[in-house]
Amino acid sequence: MIAMVDLKTQNAALDKEITSGIHSVLASGQFLFGPQVAAFEEEAADYLGSRHAISCASGTDALMLSLRALDIGPGDEVITTPFSFFATVEAILLTGATPVFVDIHPRSFNLNPALVEQAITEATKAILPVHLFGQPADMELLRSIAIHHELYLVEDCAQSFGASCTAGVTGTLGNTGCFSFFPSKNLGACGDGGLITTQDDQLAARLRSLCNHGSHKRHCHEMTGYNSRLDEFQAVVLRAKLRRIDRYNEARRHWARYYTQSLADMSSLITPRQDQYSCHVFNQYTLLLSQRDYVYEALQEQQIGCAIHYPIPLYRQPALEPLFPDLCLPVVEEVSAHCLSLPMHPELTQQQADEVILTLRQTLAQIG
Ligand SMILES: Cc1ncc(COP(=O)(O)O)c(C=O)c1O
Repeated sequence: MIAMVDLKTQNAALDKEITSGIHSVLASGQFLFGPQVAAFEEEAADYLGSRHAISCASGTDALMLSLRALDIGPGDEVITTPFSFFATVEAILLTGATPVFVDIHPRSFNLNPALVEQAITEATKAILPVHLFGQPADMELLRSIAIHHELYLVEDCAQSFGASCTAGVTGTLGNTGCFSFFPSKNLGACGDGGLITTQDDQLAARLRSLCNHGSHKRHCHEMTGYNSRLDEFQAVVLRAKLRRIDRYNEARRHWARYYTQSLADMSSLITPRQDQYSCHVFNQYTLLLSQRDYVYEALQEQQIGCAIHYPIPLYRQPALEPLFPDLCLPVVEEVSAHCLSLPMHPELTQQQADEVILTLRQTLAQIG
């Protein structure tokens, strides 16, 4: 079986470092608000080039806390993409705001900035782009739209740790950047975790308070907040992996190039686009191909891990369909019917990559 991700191999290589860090946390008796989390926040801020980095319990919380810190709530509209993991829109809904879906670009799969401006109304408060699969959204254009219309920009960086574009590093280009440390992300914990980046001191203070029950000072709660924190154990794991993130991302980029070169002659599929001027970090390597469901089944049968990210536009999810009964955006409909992600992780071997390619080629040849 060739897995979509191989966390066992990644963690085994870090065993000594992680185990000794975990033992020292156990011995210290301090599991929250300790030195590991403080050091991780500092190191992550440094790596990303961000003034502030505030850890929290998950990427979903990072998004929801960002929107709350910006005072977004009932009556406000947030423009976002229909092609993402559910958490992107869930965070908007959790604040009571209304999501407004704009179609995606057919090749980058990211929010199409050319359509964003048409969706802006009096009620629009923010744009929430996702750097999907590790490819930066068109931040130059989105930033200029946000500035022109005085809107907030909240980046969903769950899949883009370490990615950059001409505008800069993802997570430092909006009012906040929201990262997930779900285990399969480019920088993944051994459990849940999240991070919010911002360059704004006031927003950072508000976010820190929101993460901690709306409190800056013991026994004083200036607002209703959340219990959303990273613990010391996860910070140990994340610090070890952050030291190696460039190597991990470079390995992902290497395998992406290899897949793309090896499949270049196949007219029945479209390999992912990599913008010349941006650094895509390939959290997923996602193809477009006809007869996707057949190919998916065939690869699974032959023990080649593959996945469909994402089979249903967000507005068609049962939780959202009553809100958007008639919405049908043509590009996301097309992409969600034809996308297929191949195994992608830094620990992939040459033999595994070749087997994935060979099996895919054979399957496509059978279809004819
Ligand atoms: C694009 C996107 N946004 C948000 C999230 C939510 O992150 P988490 O699982 O850490 O809550 C994810 C994670 O799967 C994601 O892929």
